[in-house]
Amino acid sequence: MKNTTLVNHPPAVNIPADNRPLVAPIYQSVKFSFDDAAETLRYLAGGREGFFYSRSANPTLKQLELLLAQLQGRNGCLLVGSGVATIAAATLALCKQGDHVLAFIESYGPTRYIVQHLLAKYGVTHSLLSIEDRDGIERVLSATRTRLALFESPTNPVTKIADIEHLTAHARRTGCLTVMDNTFAGFHNHGGFDIDIFLHSLTKYASGHGDVMGGAIIARSELIGQMRKDIVSMGPTLDPHAAFLIQRGMHTYFLRYERQCANALAVSRFLQSHRRVRRVHYPGLETHPQHALAKRQMSDFGTVVSFELDAGFEEGNRFAEALGLFSIAASVGSTESLVMPPQLLGGQEYTPEQRAASLITRGTLRLSIGIEDEQDLLQDLEQALDQAFA
Ligand SMILES: Cc1ncc(COP(=O)(O)O)c(C=O)c1O
Repeated sequence: MKNTTLVNHPPAVNIPADNRPLVAPIYQSVKFSFDDAAETLRYLAGGREGFFYSRSANPTLKQLELLLAQLQGRNGCLLVGSGVATIAAATLALCKQGDHVLAFIESYGPTRYIVQHLLAKYGVTHSLLSIEDRDGIERVLSATRTRLALFESPTNPVTKIADIEHLTAHARRTGCLTVMDNTFAGFHNHGGFDIDIFLHSLTKYASGHGDVMGGAIIARSELIGQMRKDIVSMGPTLDPHAAFLIQRGMHTYFLRYERQCANALAVSRFLQSHRRVRRVHYPGLETHPQHALAKRQMSDFGTVVSFELDAGFEEGNRFAEALGLFSIAASVGSTESLVMPPQLLGGQEYTPEQRAASLITRGTLRLSIGIEDEQDLLQDLEQALDQAFA
């Protein structure tokens, strides 16, 4: 073998079966080969286990899929390249022309875009309600044959809580699938509810360190099986290296989430006691209108705190710029704290009624709470509030 051939066929290193790496290696290979064509065909026909092409399956992704499905209490998972890809891919795979989707005003902006513009291009209609509109939910599900209801809880950014049992009971009765973007609440929450499909942005708490993007669609295996061919054909695959980093992030998922929740509660109590803060949105506060519901549905209250300054855009920006430990940045769930000032919170396309339901005002800011020292965070918030109103 000449060296020009050798570099394309490097020596194989086989690890003995009784000699395992503690951290699974990254299978950074697009292709997997069987010894003969017959076995390849048997694999492609579903007759044996294995891997062939990483767009449809890869061992590094498989390990993460098994882990996340088990954490969420389901037996099927499909990984894609971002959280938004889970929303687009799942809804496109589940809906066809003429279907109807129930979506919510308080949902993540790109989710609303996907329903209102992307699905609409393919003849899928929708109703857009407030997540608090229980009568509206019952009315739409009874009056209009609805393919799926797509919801979040806590909502982004003002942490409204969906009444999950109410929604899933009416959806089940009318043959509507429920799709929950469970990114904010995490894999350890909501698995016990009768929810058909969970979506997660792995960019947030799973990776945890703000350095990799990914998404997971989690459901019972038959449902994943129904969606798999359509989604794999769209090609939104997660890269094995990204899956490895997310898998590594998951080692500290519970520790991080617990610490972030404790910090979030301390931050929300501090803000609530500040004279320049008009209102704090955090489900862990007894004053949150759905505190009791959150307590029933979740094992904790999440890591996002929003609040309304007794002021407008100018003071909001000054406050965000004066913070030393919170960066002005998108996303949530990283180890470092982040802030989004009012003008960056989106919702520009809301009608006046939708804006009122969204509870986002000119003074609303969103904080994503990290794992820093609690006192450092409180001191930083205090000095920034002083500066904003100096
Ligand atoms: C609730 C929710 N779902 C989905 C996403 C999208 O995730 P990604 O940024 O990984 O596409 C986000 C991002 O902020 C989010 O907040």
